[in-house]
Amino acid sequence: MTGRFPQVRPRRLRATPAMRRLVAETRIHPAELVLPMFIREGATDAIDISSMPGVQQHSLDSFRRALNEAAEQGVGGVNLFGVPTSKDAEGSGATDPDGILNVAIRVAKEEVGDALVVQSDLCLDEFTDHGHCGVLAADGSVDNDATLLRYRDMAVAQAEAGAELVCMSGMMDGQIAAARDALDTAGHSGTALLAYSAKYASAFYGPFREAVASTLQGDRRTYQIDAADGRQGLREVLLDIEEGADIVMVKPAMSYLDVLARTADVSEVPVWAYQISGEYAMITAAAQNGWIDRDAAAMEALVGIKRAGADAILTYFAVDIARKLNQEA
Ligand code: PBG
Repeated sequence: MTGRFPQVRPRRLRATPAMRRLVAETRIHPAELVLPMFIREGATDAIDISSMPGVQQHSLDSFRRALNEAAEQGVGGVNLFGVPTSKDAEGSGATDPDGILNVAIRVAKEEVGDALVVQSDLCLDEFTDHGHCGVLAADGSVDNDATLLRYRDMAVAQAEAGAELVCMSGMMDGQIAAARDALDTAGHSGTALLAYSAKYASAFYGPFREAVASTLQGDRRTYQIDAADGRQGLREVLLDIEEGADIVMVKPAMSYLDVLARTADVSEVPVWAYQISGEYAMITAAAQNGWIDRDAAAMEALVGIKRAGADAILTYFAVDIARKLNQEA
């Protein structure tokens, strides 16, 4: 700087809406948003999830309507979770072709399969009576390798129902290789795998427990990564790519943007992030109190996640934000 006033003035690029729009480095497009959806077995109407205002457990009818709304707004995909009425130790409903998640996959394919990607959650926690993501050994611990056998069958059941992108969220070691092998052996080599690679044990999953009527006692700290560890997230990402993951994901998003940025630096496959239930709940609750602007806060969070390196984002705001973007366009 020479003289009494600056010659370099970064504010020039912020002066007008048109200039800000032109220089914006990061833009969100509806096609890179994925809507997570909950489908409840036996429900005759949609049921509100109290800790996630605006999100519902769907009946098959309300699910069909919501799918069409998502397709109309041009979101890139829907990510399906089942809420079964009966649960057991093995999570039998997960591999039953008539289990709620497999039924929902078929409905989604039929309803909007040409317009967007149908993704299915592959994990046992919604289907087990103990609520863990895998089956238990005699001592009550989660049995990694016995769980892989269940995941293999679940992957094939979901592919047979029509899932195009099977999303492995259970955090068992070797789960990507196991599902890939099972799919290929069963003739589903065209079914893609999304790996929840850097999935952290998080307090922000709280509202999701209500969303899927979870029965979990305790926590998932023996399989999900500890919040303190960035390198473990990267290691999981690299292992999953080696095992054949088509897409890797970091979850939650907001408290793990450093892991997301580091992943984006090294990954050879697309990197996604999941803005989870607690992140949605915080923004929504504060907005309901009149403390923040819901859409503006949601958009800022999503832009931040994308700026950190996400190619696509799972978010409960997907349809609302897509609608807003479509109105602006
Ligand atoms: C478990 C699963 C969880 C979420 C997605 N899959 C919960 C958990 O791991 O405890 C959380 C998603 C959210 O909070 O929005 N299969």
